[in-house]
Amino acid sequence: MAQRIAVIPGDGIGPEVARVGVRILESLQLPLQFEWFDFGADRYLRDGTILPAGFMDELRTNFAAVYFGAVGDPRVPGNEHAKGILLAMRFELDLYINLRPCLLLDDRLSPLKGKGRRELRFTVLRENTEGLYAGVGGVFKKGTPDEIAQDVEVNTRKGVERICEAAFAHAEERGFGRVCMADKANVLVHGHGLWRRVFAEVARRHPAVQAKAMYVDALAMDLVRQPEAYDVIVTNNLFGDILTDLGAALTGGLGLAASGNIHPGRVSLFEPVHGSAPDIAGQGKANPLAMVLCGALMLEHLGHRREAELVNRSVEEQVQKGAHTPDLSPLLGGPAATTEQVGSELLARVEEALR
Ligand SMILES: NC(=O)c1ccc[n+]([C@@H]2O[C@H](COP(=O)([O-])OP(=O)(O)OC[C@H]3O[C@@H](n4cnc5c(N)ncnc54)[C@H](O)[C@@H]3O)[C@@H](O)[C@H]2O)c1
Repeated sequence: MAQRIAVIPGDGIGPEVARVGVRILESLQLPLQFEWFDFGADRYLRDGTILPAGFMDELRTNFAAVYFGAVGDPRVPGNEHAKGILLAMRFELDLYINLRPCLLLDDRLSPLKGKGRRELRFTVLRENTEGLYAGVGGVFKKGTPDEIAQDVEVNTRKGVERICEAAFAHAEERGFGRVCMADKANVLVHGHGLWRRVFAEVARRHPAVQAKAMYVDALAMDLVRQPEAYDVIVTNNLFGDILTDLGAALTGGLGLAASGNIHPGRVSLFEPVHGSAPDIAGQGKANPLAMVLCGALMLEHLGHRREAELVNRSVEEQVQKGAHTPDLSPLLGGPAATTEQVGSELLARVEEALR
């Protein structure tokens, strides 16, 4: 039975990079069946659809994964369609692991003096369903001098425990020796106190992995100073959001940053870290490699580890020896190629590796 993949290219450069990503995945000749959905700004502006009723159930029951481009369009200034599509899937499908590998593919892409591929190779697991993104809070006496605005950080024992478990499992499966948990328990004593206690409990169940808890500000500093000290980092929704942007900047930028929104054993969603980049949409300038790397994360989730490695190796080789889009030009030098040209070269590499 083929594994069904829902492809949602979305807005802006989403469709441009999704086309390349699906071409690469199709070339692997795996039993994967791609089904395209047109949710995004065009559809929303045309008939008001964000996601049709029943779509989430359809995903849960009939699909193995979602391969997602990006959403966001200047014609929808409130971005309500984007929230309704992406955040809804993260929350309603309970995709509690936001997995973001921060791996340098070529020494020339490192912004840190003396730090190259050997040093820059950490992975962040960000809690993806609660924290400050749970939408709990409100505004009172709005617009008056007495206005009160609150966003409440939600930390549940279940939520903290399962993301910490996932971090240790990730380290064990891949042979990484260290897991670091980042919090701000010195100030946020209640919620982050819970993180400290639960992390210590989970760590005791994984004695072969070295566990360390750090304040997030100290970790941000240390990731720039000595990134080689970190293998797996686990943290809450807000800190993960910030640390992974730092991670992307340390490893070649948004054009190479991939992520998975995962619930082990259930339908999960794979998307590049970047947005719809309206400033370069339709110009053939989008780097498709982040989307392709998301494809590799998806393959791993679906149990195709060998093919995932093959795609990762091909992307690495492409960055080191092949054509690149303009975002990488300042660091790699030479003339820039288009999205399609990079995609075609990469496809040839993948096909060669398969022979
Ligand atoms: N997950 C998502 O779908 C997601 C994530 C972030 C932003 N957005 C939305 O995307 C829209 C644009 O947001 P933004 O400009 O802040 O962020 P963005 O990631 O779209 O772009 C930031 C900058 O990086 C460049 N860039 C991004 N991806 C690139 C790629 N693959 N190749 C080359 N250059 C690339 C862009 O040209 C731009 O200069 C907004 O509507 C925002 O809400 C969506």
